[in-house]
Amino acid sequence: MATILALETSCDETAVAVVRDRAILSSVVSSQIDIHQRYGGIVPEVASRQHVVTLGAELEAALTQAGLSWDAIDGVAATCAPGLVGALLVGLTAGKTLAMVHQKPFLGIHHLEGHIYANYLASPELQPPYLCLLVSGGHTSLIYVKACGQYQTLGQTRDDAAGEAFDKVARLLGLSYPGGPVIDKLAHTGNAKAFPLPEGNISLPEGGFHPYDSSFSGLKTAMLRLVEKLRADGVDPLPIADLAASFQATVARSLTKRAIACARDYDLTTIAVGGGVAANRGLRQQLTEAAKHHHLQVLFPPLSLCTDNAAMIGCAAADHLNHGHYSGLEIGAQSRLDITRVMELYG
Ligand code: KG4
Ligand code: ZN
Repeated sequence: MATILALETSCDETAVAVVRDRAILSSVVSSQIDIHQRYGGIVPEVASRQHVVTLGAELEAALTQAGLSWDAIDGVAATCAPGLVGALLVGLTAGKTLAMVHQKPFLGIHHLEGHIYANYLASPELQPPYLCLLVSGGHTSLIYVKACGQYQTLGQTRDDAAGEAFDKVARLLGLSYPGGPVIDKLAHTGNAKAFPLPEGNISLPEGGFHPYDSSFSGLKTAMLRLVEKLRADGVDPLPIADLAASFQATVARSLTKRAIACARDYDLTTIAVGGGVAANRGLRQQLTEAAKHHHLQVLFPPLSLCTDNAAMIGCAAADHLNHGHYSGLEIGAQSRLDITRVMELYG
């Protein structure tokens, strides 16, 4: 059993949590969305500075809420890749310093591995192997989870991530940042069949389509052309809810089809979903229905564990520490790191 103090500062959420294996003892998350919203997206320098402002009080709050002293902490963890380097460095430097001062092992954690581990917090009985559909603002992949630190990427987007597509299409429709939650809400009242849109198939040189890879940039362009045409035809106001519903249903269909095909081809009976887009109601509904039809189990973390948080980072760190993995204090922040290379962070 391992009790971890975990820090997450890879993007625009400052988060600290205390986790004991698969149980959350405390979790504090402070979103910077209000600050970045006025720029229509994340400003990296502003994000780093805000992490510095927020982190100290959050550390204190997380320890107090957990009701633990440093004696009860077995290790300190911080997200070290991938993400905005300046933002990552704030949590990473704080985490390494705390580990050094309190003489605890330190673990650098891969952000996407954290999103996978959010599923263990929600479903502690989950065990590999299973398929993870990882859908965040920066990544969209189908990952074969074999064991702690052992991952194989079976499918991915060739261009935009699913969350990025939600954010870009929201901007196109004049909606606020981040786009996912706004489109999700609007889609609820719209007609998903109003506008047929391309699903983003990837052609193979030998003919046919890649079974698991996808593209969302074509869908984004199709939305742009559609909006331009509606405007040219004098449609005013734009049917925003129908546009949002049609777009969301297309993304959900594309992700669902690929995840189901992949799980069946690899004989995996469970699909665990992770990342901000796992909060999407359209995806939850389509994937749940399709999984039921194919007798597969599908797991979605609760909404608070889909978007960025430190509890998922602590959960991944606890598993690694239980396996005897920890990082050297010379470990740095990396803007990119393939999830198949997670074990390079240890030993
Ligand atoms: O995992 P996350 O919090 O941060 C990254 O690691 O990227 O994901 C953020 C992304 C954003 O693109 C946001 O628009 C999207 O997740 N998102 C959603 C929903 N909630 C957040 N996308 C679709 N539907 C939602 N309900
Ligand atoms: Zn994330």
